[in-house]
Amino acid sequence: MKLDVLLGLQWGDEGKGKIVDVLTPHYDMIARFQGGPNAGHSLEFNHIKHILHTIPSGIFHEEKINLIGNGVVIDPVVFKNETDALANLKVEAEKNLYVSKKAHLILPSHRILDAASEAAKGSTKIGSTLKGIGPTYMDKTGRNGLRIGDITLPDFNEKYRFLTNKHRTILNQYNYDYSLEQYEEEWFEGIERLKKFRLIDSEHLINNFTDRGKRVLAEGAQGTLLDIDFGSYPYVTSSNTICAGACTGLGVAPSKIGEVIGIVKAYCTRVGSGPFPTELKDKTGDKMRQQGMEFGSTTGRPRRCGWLDLPALKYSIMLNGVTQLIITKADVLSGFEEIKVCTEYKQNGKVIDYLPYDIGQDVEPVYTRLKGWEEDIREIKSYREMPDNFKKYIDFIENQTGVKVNIISTGPGREQAVFPFPL
Ligand code: GDP
Ligand code: IMO
Ligand code: MG
Repeated sequence: MKLDVLLGLQWGDEGKGKIVDVLTPHYDMIARFQGGPNAGHSLEFNHIKHILHTIPSGIFHEEKINLIGNGVVIDPVVFKNETDALANLKVEAEKNLYVSKKAHLILPSHRILDAASEAAKGSTKIGSTLKGIGPTYMDKTGRNGLRIGDITLPDFNEKYRFLTNKHRTILNQYNYDYSLEQYEEEWFEGIERLKKFRLIDSEHLINNFTDRGKRVLAEGAQGTLLDIDFGSYPYVTSSNTICAGACTGLGVAPSKIGEVIGIVKAYCTRVGSGPFPTELKDKTGDKMRQQGMEFGSTTGRPRRCGWLDLPALKYSIMLNGVTQLIITKADVLSGFEEIKVCTEYKQNGKVIDYLPYDIGQDVEPVYTRLKGWEEDIREIKSYREMPDNFKKYIDFIENQTGVKVNIISTGPGREQAVFPFPL
C-alpha cells in the first residue's frame, strides 16, 4: 500500500489539523515528518478545541497509531505539556504514540539562540515562533545535535552539557540576557516523560505498515511557501515542508508515495515576516481576519490576510505533485460582495505568471473578480446546496489548477465538511 501525504500549500495554518482529524478514520497510522512545536494544528469536536504542536492530529482516534518521525524536532517541555493536556481529556498517548529515535531534540539553549538571533536582526527578523526550530536544524545538519535515541544512553548528560556550553559561547557574541535554569529543570522532566514512550527506529515500522497493506497518512506542518529551499527565503522555516520531506522525514521511498493531498485556505494568510503579494492592509483584510479568527495557534499573533494567490498555488502544486485539493475556511468568505483571485503578477511593468526569485514590494497582483455569496454555508452538508457563486469559485480554482477539489471545509468542527466527490 502506498503512503498518502497531506500538506499545506500556502504559508501554514491552512487547517491541516482539522482535515487530518476528518481523514483519520480512513487510515491506520498518522505520521508527522518535519517541523516541531512551531506548528499549531487545531481540532474541534464535542465542543472541545484542541491544539497540537508535536503530536500527530490522529491522536484522538484511540485505535490508530501515531508516529513522530525522524524529520521532526522535539522540545521535551512542549511534548510533556501536550501529553498532560491529552491526559486531561482522557487520551493516553503512551498507548498509541511512537517516537523516532532519530528525531532531534530542541534544547533550552536552542530556544535562547532563536530569540537572540531574531533580536539581533531587528527589522529584518524572520518572525520566528521562537521555539528553537532554526538553531536545532542547524545543529542537525552541522552534525552536533542530540537525538531522542541519545536520552537512554549513559553519556546523555555529558552530551547535553557539551552542546549547551557550545551554545553559551555563541550566545556571548549577542548582547542578550538569558537564564536557562528554570527551563532546564522542566526540560529534564520532559526527558523523563519521553522515556515512557516507545522510542523506535520508525522507518522500519512505517515500511512494515505499508508493506502489510496498512494505510498511512503523513501529516505535514507549516506550508509549501515556508519550505527551506522553495519558500520566500530567508523568510521560511528550517525544514523541507514539501512532499519530498515526507520521504526523508519518515524513511519512505519516493516510489511509495500515493495520493498527495494539498490543503488550501479559500484565501491566504501569513504570520511572521516576508513577501505576501495579495496581502490586504485594509478593511477587507480586517474583515477576513475577524470572520476567520485569524490569530496564530502557536503564538496568538494576528495573521496577515489576503486574496487567494493562484501563481503561488500552482507553484506549490507543482513542487508537491498534488493529486487532490481540499479547500478550508470556505465559510469565511460568505458576505464578501466580490471575491478576487490573483491570476498573475505585474513586476516592473511586465506581466508574469510565476513567483519571481526577487519577490518584493514591486510585485503587484493582477486580479480576476468573481461574484461573492451572502449565504452562510456552515451547516450545508451537500455540495448541491452550495450557493451558485460559491460553486463558480470552486470551478474557477479547479480549472486554473487542473486539480479536483475533494473536500470543502465549512467550519472548524469535525463534522463541518462537504464532499463534492464522496471518498
Ligand atoms: P493548521 O496549522 O494547518 O492545522 O491550521 P491551524 O489550526 O493553525 O489554523 C486553522 C484555524 O482555522 C483553526 O483555528 C481551526 O480551528 C480553524 N478552521 C479549520 N478549518 C476551518 C474551516 O473550514 N472554517 C473555519 N471557520 N475555521 C476553520
Ligand atoms: P502550522 O503547522 C504558520 C512561520 C513563522 C515564521 C517562519 C519561521 O501550524 O501551519 P520558525 O519558528 O519555523 O523559525 O518560523 O515560519 N511558521 C508558521 N506559520 N504556521 C506554522 O505551522 C508555522 N510554523 C512556522 O511565523 O514566519
Ligand atoms: Mg497552525
